[in-house]
Amino acid sequence: MKKLMAANWKMFKTWDEAQATARGLVELAAAKLPQDREVLVCPPFTCLKAVSDAFSGVPGFATGGQDFYFREEGAFTGEISPAMLRDVGAAYGLTGHSERRHVLGEDDAYIGQKTAFGLSAGLRVILCIGELIDERRAGRVEEVLERQLRLGLKDVPLDVSPERISVAYEPVWAIGTGEVAGPEEILAAHAFTRKTMAAILGKKANEMRILYGGSVKPSNCAEIIALDNVDGVLVGGASLQSESFSQIVLA
Ligand code: G3P
Repeated sequence: MKKLMAANWKMFKTWDEAQATARGLVELAAAKLPQDREVLVCPPFTCLKAVSDAFSGVPGFATGGQDFYFREEGAFTGEISPAMLRDVGAAYGLTGHSERRHVLGEDDAYIGQKTAFGLSAGLRVILCIGELIDERRAGRVEEVLERQLRLGLKDVPLDVSPERISVAYEPVWAIGTGEVAGPEEILAAHAFTRKTMAAILGKKANEMRILYGGSVKPSNCAEIIALDNVDGVLVGGASLQSESFSQIVLA
């Protein structure tokens, strides 16, 4: 399976900035992209078409939405459907990012509905999970990850193609802090995630990707991406500049 090198631009980037960064990334990384890697950029909705257009015709480069609603269309003011994401060239959608859980109040059941609907609507979905520092200090990491996985993947069809569903393990205490998780922490969390995904979805879980996210930088990416059960990264801050994100993509 190809390693997925993904960017989450959150609520940064104007349209012009997004187009410039996307073009810069293509210029710096497209020709050197190893065969076993794919690039994904999840910009703000307002910039999604600009980035999709910049990636158009570039092998291995895709775009995604940072979230989506679990209805195809209708009177849901302010929401974006999977069809709308696909309409502007996006192939992926994130669900359950920790900021949507802990800042915007989304719960596991709601995230599970979005995950299943996104798949049924033709998106490739990346379910984000991760524990808070208090949960880690209390020895509750596996309890939290298991709950998030069981409820997040609850309605995912067992015959889903493995490349359509991925999980991103993002310890909340590592997001935006510069405190990247250590190799042992990543190995343990990803091994548990793999085991739990297999318990839920069967042995094809071994072909599904588990990404690491949380203070990934050009300086630490090569070590992280080489660890067992790490099939890619999900990068916030260091993906906002094409220079640093291209170094991560090629690490
Ligand atoms: O979704 C990725 C993001 O949460 C990680 O942020 O800035 O720690 O790379 P950052």
